[in-house]
Amino acid sequence: MRVAVIGGTGHIGSYLTPMLVEAGYSVTCVSRGVRRPYKEHPAWRSIKTLQIDRLAEEEAGTFGERIAELEADAVIDLTCYYPASAQQLANALRGRTGHLLHCGTIWVHGPSGSVPTTEDRPRNPFGDYGIRKAAIEALFMNEVDASSLPVTVLHPGHLVGPGWAPINPLGNFNTAVFAALRRGDEIRIPNFGMETLNHVHVEDVAQAFLLAIQNRSAAIGQSFHVVAASALTLRWYAEQMADWFHQPARLSFLPWDEWKLGVSAKDAAVTEDHLRHSPNCSIEKARRLLGYEPRYSPLAAIQESVSWLAANGAIS
Ligand SMILES: NC(=O)c1ccc[n+]([C@@H]2O[C@H](COP(=O)([O-])OP(=O)(O)OC[C@H]3O[C@@H](n4cnc5c(N)ncnc54)[C@H](OP(=O)(O)O)[C@@H]3O)[C@@H](O)[C@H]2O)c1
Repeated sequence: MRVAVIGGTGHIGSYLTPMLVEAGYSVTCVSRGVRRPYKEHPAWRSIKTLQIDRLAEEEAGTFGERIAELEADAVIDLTCYYPASAQQLANALRGRTGHLLHCGTIWVHGPSGSVPTTEDRPRNPFGDYGIRKAAIEALFMNEVDASSLPVTVLHPGHLVGPGWAPINPLGNFNTAVFAALRRGDEIRIPNFGMETLNHVHVEDVAQAFLLAIQNRSAAIGQSFHVVAASALTLRWYAEQMADWFHQPARLSFLPWDEWKLGVSAKDAAVTEDHLRHSPNCSIEKARRLLGYEPRYSPLAAIQESVSWLAANGAIS
């Protein structure tokens, strides 16, 4: 069985692409060939590559056809960010693949309501990225009904893995927070630290894509959250990381309007985006229909990533 992975050398693809080979699939990785995978694996020697620039091919109207020509039984699209991109792929793949799997995001939900959030909740996204990803999901679900295009949408949480910084206990990517916790310094947390983050290890995201292919009939026409088994409050996350560093947790709490003045505009914007979402998504549907069971707890995933940052001099 042939599988094409669009964007197969990024955070998710670094794990997913070799995992598919190990599971016995014949795999083609579609990318520009600029990035090296985060993780070396002998399977890369048997992975075929199609080196194309998606943006250029989309503009020329040829991207969908280039993918359809691969005659893949399953196409995994990890890098679709615009409804027009999704439509071009859908038009080309109708009747020409057995399964199209789109990588979405839990941002399609907008702010959390009754938690844990389930996949059947009406979408209420905010922010350009979440709105576009929700529009893509709606477009694909409409294609399932209107044209029988066999689509599955997987919605990961905050991607974690060795090689890059995870979202930290302040809800942004600044690695100085981990350095402060390691020294036992005080860190300032917005509000009461009760807003939530919803991490997932990329190996677990890869596992979910593989399971969706293997459980095709249960997966088609469905969306699934792909997150760790629990969300973390900022406060608990900070306390657990301090403990992991063998330090007391020295935390202070500031109202949002005061807190944001003490950090860069960039960090404040990323934190605000995460706090306003405060995701906490259910994985019961993926467990039930796909047999998804995350291997990593959120803290185990984060600690593996922070160990990598420390070993590579990124927190000092
Ligand atoms: N980051 C998060 O925390 C998060 C959370 C939830 C959902 N998501 C979703 O996860 C997906 C992103 O996955 P990821 O983080 O694994 O991707 P990524 O790390 O950004 O990887 C990008 C991949 O696409 C290729 N690529 C980039 N530009 C290209 C172009 N113009 N033409 C062809 N290939 C191109 C890259 O290789 P080359 O550079 O060699 O071309 C690479 O293989 C998105 O759908 C996103 O919405 C992300």
